[in-house]
Amino acid sequence: MAGYGARVRDRGPSNAEVAAKCKEYLFPSAATYYDEPVALESGTGMRVRDYDGRTYLDFFGGILTVSVGHANSEVNARVRGQMDRLGHVSTLYPTLPIGDLAEKLVQLAPLGLGKAFFCTSGTEANETAVTLAQTHTGEAEIVALRHGYSGRTIAAQALTGNSKYRPVTTQLAGVKHAHAPYCYRCPFGLRYPSCALKCAEDIEELIQTTTAGHVGAIIIEPILGVGGFITPPDGWLRLAVDVVRKYGGVFICDEVQTGFGRTGKMWGIDHEGVEPDVMTMAKGIANGYPLGAVLAKAPIAASWKAGNISTFGGNPISCAAAAATIGVIESENLVHNAAAMGEILRQGLDALKAKHSAIGDVRGRGLMQGIEIVRNEKEHDRTPDVEITLSVFEEAKKRGLLVGRGGLYGNVLRIAPPLIVGRRDVDDAHEILDASLAAAGR
Ligand SMILES: Cc1ncc(COP(=O)(O)O)c(C=O)c1O
Repeated sequence: MAGYGARVRDRGPSNAEVAAKCKEYLFPSAATYYDEPVALESGTGMRVRDYDGRTYLDFFGGILTVSVGHANSEVNARVRGQMDRLGHVSTLYPTLPIGDLAEKLVQLAPLGLGKAFFCTSGTEANETAVTLAQTHTGEAEIVALRHGYSGRTIAAQALTGNSKYRPVTTQLAGVKHAHAPYCYRCPFGLRYPSCALKCAEDIEELIQTTTAGHVGAIIIEPILGVGGFITPPDGWLRLAVDVVRKYGGVFICDEVQTGFGRTGKMWGIDHEGVEPDVMTMAKGIANGYPLGAVLAKAPIAASWKAGNISTFGGNPISCAAAAATIGVIESENLVHNAAAMGEILRQGLDALKAKHSAIGDVRGRGLMQGIEIVRNEKEHDRTPDVEITLSVFEEAKKRGLLVGRGGLYGNVLRIAPPLIVGRRDVDDAHEILDASLAAAGR
C-alpha cells in the first residue's frame, strides 16, 4: 500500500482552502463527504490526488461514473480530437458522434430497444422515460420503489423513495411506491425463498387499491444504488414486471448505476432475463463526461408526438467520450474483469463480515458491493449504526481509500471501483477496510 495517503504538498492552494471556497459559494445542500472534505486536484487510473498531495485509491469513481479509470488516455484522445472538430450543435442537427453512439447502444442493449434519445444526466433520462411511458400508455400513474432513487427534478424526486432527497412535498400526482425487495430488512418480516416473493406480489394489491386499476409503468433499478445497493432476490424482478404489465404498464429499467459492465454483465438487467421496454443510462456511459440516454422500443419512442429538443443532449464531445469509454470496456474485456474482480471483492467482504460484528449484510453484484453497518449482527441487533459507519468511512479515508455511503439510514458503505481495478487494489481495499473496522471498534 506504499504511497496511499502520503502527503506530498507542492505549490498551489491547500485542500482546506479549496474546500472553504466551495463551501462559501456553493449551495449548502450540495454536501460533500468527510469531516474534512477531500478536495480533488487530479487523478490517473485507480488513483486520485488531493490539493495537499495525498493520494487515494478510488473505490467510488465519482459515484460509479469513472468506469475506465481517471484520465483514461483513449477517452482523452477522443475528446481532444472531437473538441478540435466540433464542440456543439444540439439535437437539432445530426452528427456522426450521436448517430454512431445511438447505433452502438442499440447493438449493446437488450433486444428490441431500437431507438435512442440523448440528454445530459440520469435525472433527465428518467424524466424522459416516464413521460414516454405516459404518452405511450395514456396512463399517468407510475409504480416506483421505496428506497429507490431517480434523480433531482420535480418528477424524479416524486419517483424517489427516500425522504432525504425530497426537499418539498410530492409535486407529481400518481406515483405509487411499492415495497423494495430489501431482504435484509424484509418489509413483511419474511425470509427468502419461503416468502414466495410477497413484496413483488403485493404490487398487484398496490395497483388494485391505490390506482385507477391501470398504470403507465414501473421504474426499477436492477440494484437500488442510492438505497444502499439493495439487490433483489432471484425471480423478484420478473414477477414485479409481470404484475405491472398485466395492468397495462411498461417496464422502465434504470441502468444509471448498473449499466456498462458494473455488475459483471453489460447491464444489470442481464442477470434477470427480463426485457425492458424503456431503459435509462448515464454515469458510467462516458467516464464522467455529462451524458444521459434513453433507449426504447420503436413504437414507444414514436408515441412522443410533441416537440423534444435537448440543447446539450448528444453533445458531440460527450458522445465521443462515450464511444471511447465503451471501446475501452470492450477492448480490455472490462465486463469480464468486473465479474472476476467483483467475485474476489465479494469473497473478501464476506470474510470481513465473519470477523466484524458491525457488518450486518454484504450484497451486490460484480463491482457494486455494499456492506450494511449495524449495531451488532452477531447478537442479532440490526439497528442501523450511522456512527460506526461514519467512523469506518473516515478511517478508510485516513488510510487512503475512498468509498461511498448510502442507504435510507446512511449506514451502507458503497464499494464500486472503476472497472479497471486489479487484484492488488482489491487486496489493498480489503486490508484498509479491515483495519478501519477494527479502528472504529468493531
Ligand atoms: C439509479 C439512479 N438513477 C438516476 C440518477 C440521477 O442521475 P444524475 O445524478 O445523473 O441526474 C442516479 C444518481 O445517482 C441514480 O443512481
